[in-house]
Amino acid sequence: TTTLMAQQKPFVANYDESKVGQFTLPDPLRLGSMKISTEEDWEKNRATWLTLFADHMYGQMPPKSIKQTNTLVSQKDILGGKATQSIWKMDFAGKVQATVVVILPKSNKKAPVFLGLNFCGNQTISQDEGIPIFDKYVVCNNAPDFINNISQAASRGEWASRWQIEKVIDAGFGTITAACGDFEEDFATGFKNGLRTKLAGELGLKPEEWTANGAWAWGLSRMLDLAQSIAEIDGKKVILHGHSRLGKAALWAGANDRRFAAIISNESGEGGAALSRRIYGETIWRITNSFPHWFLPTYATYADRENELPFDQHILLSLLAPRPVYVASAFGDQWSDPKGEFLGTKEMEKVYSLYGKKGLGNIDMPGLNQPVGKLIRYHIRDGKHDINDYDWDQYIKFGKEEVK
Ligand code: GCU
Repeated sequence: TTTLMAQQKPFVANYDESKVGQFTLPDPLRLGSMKISTEEDWEKNRATWLTLFADHMYGQMPPKSIKQTNTLVSQKDILGGKATQSIWKMDFAGKVQATVVVILPKSNKKAPVFLGLNFCGNQTISQDEGIPIFDKYVVCNNAPDFINNISQAASRGEWASRWQIEKVIDAGFGTITAACGDFEEDFATGFKNGLRTKLAGELGLKPEEWTANGAWAWGLSRMLDLAQSIAEIDGKKVILHGHSRLGKAALWAGANDRRFAAIISNESGEGGAALSRRIYGETIWRITNSFPHWFLPTYATYADRENELPFDQHILLSLLAPRPVYVASAFGDQWSDPKGEFLGTKEMEKVYSLYGKKGLGNIDMPGLNQPVGKLIRYHIRDGKHDINDYDWDQYIKFGKEEVK
């Protein structure tokens, strides 16, 4: 109501554990009066949970598939001949195009790959001049690299530390990325220039029936289609990752598209891996006011009545079962509610145990820089909201051990 919203403005985030509030989490194994107790039951009913997330939060995914044409634009050796860098153009019905960078180790074996979206253009992942500079709206705006939310030449390599390409290549993995803005530019009315509008007819969905998270998740699946069409890639070993807002999209994509072999959520926070019922850091009220295009308007109505949500984010994480999942937090990123991310991850065991798989077990939140778990992993590292080389060391180890 208006009074409630008025009282809450300006938003002050809670960082006091004693004020988080009481809650009971919905049981992933209970749907109405039905109790799920076997792997078969879960497989039969997981679509019901997926539909609840689609109806209340992230919006529908397109019921129809579309004609996708992948064209190789350029290819060259990089990193002193250790890797090949290809630029691909994906075209959808002649109306929407996305540029994808594919970097693969030179090897006679098919490569496992890490696949994820980037915030501010492919050129930010490395200094390489062969990568075209993204020309749509980006959320970065620090001159001289970005001016009026448009990437400048100076932005080449701006986010190289978040991609660690050479480390990834040396470990035997490839990297695939595209700018999220090729699917939907990240502002409230960005959908008007994006695929939700341009492909509405082809995909069989009106723009308001889905969200930016949906458009990004759809894009991730189309990048997976491309990956699976490239002979040098092991299409069964595509590890999906995402940071922050793009971590939310990665979780939604992983829940919908079971071809992703493993999923990594890096500081995805509210609307990602963090439990919404915990009032700590960002809340439903805050996120739906700042970023209305990320979720359906229905989701905003759960602000201040989080307990009435039919699900919480541990169930989104459980929809990734039985695949390997890594959830990571950073101590300097309390906004994302690290404890809420840890507790959500811990809850996954219920569903994973139906498959005879282990979760984190009955443990307390680990200390800084002490990864826990195996198939399901979690860490909280020191430092700020970011993806850094420490995170990548853990993700590479995880990929080697769990994606076989
Ligand atoms: C904001 C937003 C978060 C989001 C983050 C990011 O802080 O509130 O929900 O995860 O941006 O994408 O970096």
